[in-house]
Amino acid sequence: MNTAKWSMILLVVCPGAVRAGSDITSISSMDILQWEKMAAGVWKASIGKKELASIDYAGPPKLKALSDMGDAKFPFERNTARGQINASGTSVRLPLEESEKIYGLGLEFKGINRRSNVYHLKVDHYGGVKGYTHAPVPFYVSSKGYGVFVSTARRPSFYVGIGNRKDSKLPPYIDRTTGGSKWSARPVSDAVEVSVNGQGLEVYVFGGGNPLEAVRRYNLYCGGGVLPPRWGLGFWHRMHTRSSDSDVLKEVADFEKYDFPLDVIGLEPGWQSFAYPCSFEWDKTRFPEPKRFLKQLSEKGIRVNLWENPYLAPTSTISQAMKPYTGSHTVWLGEVPDYTLETARKILLDHHQKNHLDIGVSGYKFDEVDGYDVWLWPDHASFPSGHSAVQIRQLYGLMIQNMFMQRFREMNKRTYGLVRSSNGAASPSGFVIYSDYYDHRGYVTALVNCSLAGVLWTPEIRSARSDEEWLRRFQSVCFSPMVQLNAWSSGKKPWSFPKVTDLVRDVIRLRTRLLPYIYTAFYDYNQRGIPPFRAMVLETGFDHSEEIIAGKLHGEDNPYAETMRLETTDQYMMGPSILVAPVFAGQKRRKVVLPRGNWYDFYTGKIVGNGETITIETRLEQIPLFVKDGGIVPMMPSVNNIAGAKGTIDLEVRHYGRKENTYLLYDDDGQTFDYEKGIFAVTELSVKKSNGKLTGSSSTSNNKWQSRYRKVSWKFMSQ
Ligand code: GAL
Repeated sequence: MNTAKWSMILLVVCPGAVRAGSDITSISSMDILQWEKMAAGVWKASIGKKELASIDYAGPPKLKALSDMGDAKFPFERNTARGQINASGTSVRLPLEESEKIYGLGLEFKGINRRSNVYHLKVDHYGGVKGYTHAPVPFYVSSKGYGVFVSTARRPSFYVGIGNRKDSKLPPYIDRTTGGSKWSARPVSDAVEVSVNGQGLEVYVFGGGNPLEAVRRYNLYCGGGVLPPRWGLGFWHRMHTRSSDSDVLKEVADFEKYDFPLDVIGLEPGWQSFAYPCSFEWDKTRFPEPKRFLKQLSEKGIRVNLWENPYLAPTSTISQAMKPYTGSHTVWLGEVPDYTLETARKILLDHHQKNHLDIGVSGYKFDEVDGYDVWLWPDHASFPSGHSAVQIRQLYGLMIQNMFMQRFREMNKRTYGLVRSSNGAASPSGFVIYSDYYDHRGYVTALVNCSLAGVLWTPEIRSARSDEEWLRRFQSVCFSPMVQLNAWSSGKKPWSFPKVTDLVRDVIRLRTRLLPYIYTAFYDYNQRGIPPFRAMVLETGFDHSEEIIAGKLHGEDNPYAETMRLETTDQYMMGPSILVAPVFAGQKRRKVVLPRGNWYDFYTGKIVGNGETITIETRLEQIPLFVKDGGIVPMMPSVNNIAGAKGTIDLEVRHYGRKENTYLLYDDDGQTFDYEKGIFAVTELSVKKSNGKLTGSSSTSNNKWQSRYRKVSWKFMSQ
């Protein structure tokens, strides 16, 4: 049945009459979703009215990259995916096998397997409630190798294998008195059901032979992952909130004195004349000459990032112009612009362009776009666009990211910054999520989960209770999308824990040395949708259906046994071949789960295992890193400032294990969008085996861009 017609009927008939006249309680009364093919391996079904939705903020789908991946099978029996609009809102029901596992649903600090639970996805400060997160992304990926994205600006509820319809496939009835542990308060259900309190939604399905393929299709369909400017992948230091220009210059001099890398200085609330709510104007006492100050830093290759929250101080020079475009309620007494309106966007962007961007500011940290209910506008607030308070709140962080990404694109300048909330379709956004939650394990779990949600996350460091914790946190953050010390309150410097200062410097340098590899991993995110930092469950790398047919399942009943083995939350992949296993303070040894194939120690090149769980003794000076067989890792000499390092770069290219391999190393100008016009260079690094001996070769195609990478020295780590 035509869903639009059906919704019309339901909206005009009173619920009592519907109950009496037809059976709206059976599955067969639900509409069979009609799937439209959007791209190779991507389908969409719409139900009810098209409402404001996160997909509206996606980039243009990367259709060529999707078609290069080839087509995929539609993952369900078509008539099993259904939808309905009833008095409770709009819902969809998608089939779920008994053994299937579900990952994703946003940036969670705990766990990875989302099965047998309910998630009410709400943009919030970390809240301890399932689904209340900085990035409640309504996307999940199945161990079967497909993904589902529910595009909405409402707060969707996901019932993942829980909640049994009366006419669904039910598990056996068990009497609780005699059934003992067989009785369950959460009987297994055969579906994922999703509902919103709204008049419609769109569901996208991404096919794939394994979970990674589904994630790639999601990222590519939303516009491909962001390619940050090269400097964005360097070291970020956020100043204490009350710092002045001279404090910054002194701190920069200290970085030189202590011989520490520095690429970006972050200014916290005190750069503004008024904060919470914000003026967006420079404070004349602390920063009397912002243009000169920015120039002084830029001459040293250092970029400046400005903190702000979006709530308008009455003293801001744009507050009068913005007034007609603000909502009914305030946040900390500051008005709340409605950024679904073009004029509101233009007022803010033009002001920022003139006062910040044109004088050299590189980007922003958008704080407080998540918030607690007691801070933000209530759910009954009204906004001039007519969108509901909930819709605006769910997408507020996404809207702000999107409008600034567009402005930077118009300037042909890439940006990289921070934001505290996001939503679906955010993979092209150059804003990294952070939190006030400060649990080191939770931070690493978030790093794992961000790859299942198309967002980036930084486990930034603020302070520590011991030298060891300081070092361990530094080691983790150096293996993440943004290496940041956020000293807004602690006033800490990288050398604040003198006993481990040298080890902290070493790991920042190791990160810098890996820049060619990490930058290329981001290019793969951009072009092929592969998350640069990703969950181990994305490393199964094989087609389950083929495995099942071939009967190669190691005698396991569960076809997803291999994916389940990789359901770890304390280790992850970086780029194509490096496995990162962070250590937490106090941990003398830890387990590392190795995917199939041989794995080698990054530091020594020695083999450590194959498709098994190993236990390693930790060493204070090292974050455990492992490389898969054939892994090629290009490294450059360490520099204290990425933008300032001019000239050609000699590479040390490491190869691990025994396998032949080819790696494509990417280079471009590192700061504009010219790469989209083909202005980039690729160096092919190849390792071949002859008579048991490995040899490496390199060849560069300078496609309108002269690669900076020149001399290549090969290092066969396991030879
Ligand atoms: C918090 C934010 C911190 C810092 C601080 C400044 O909301 O999470 O990173 O920016 O505000 O007041």
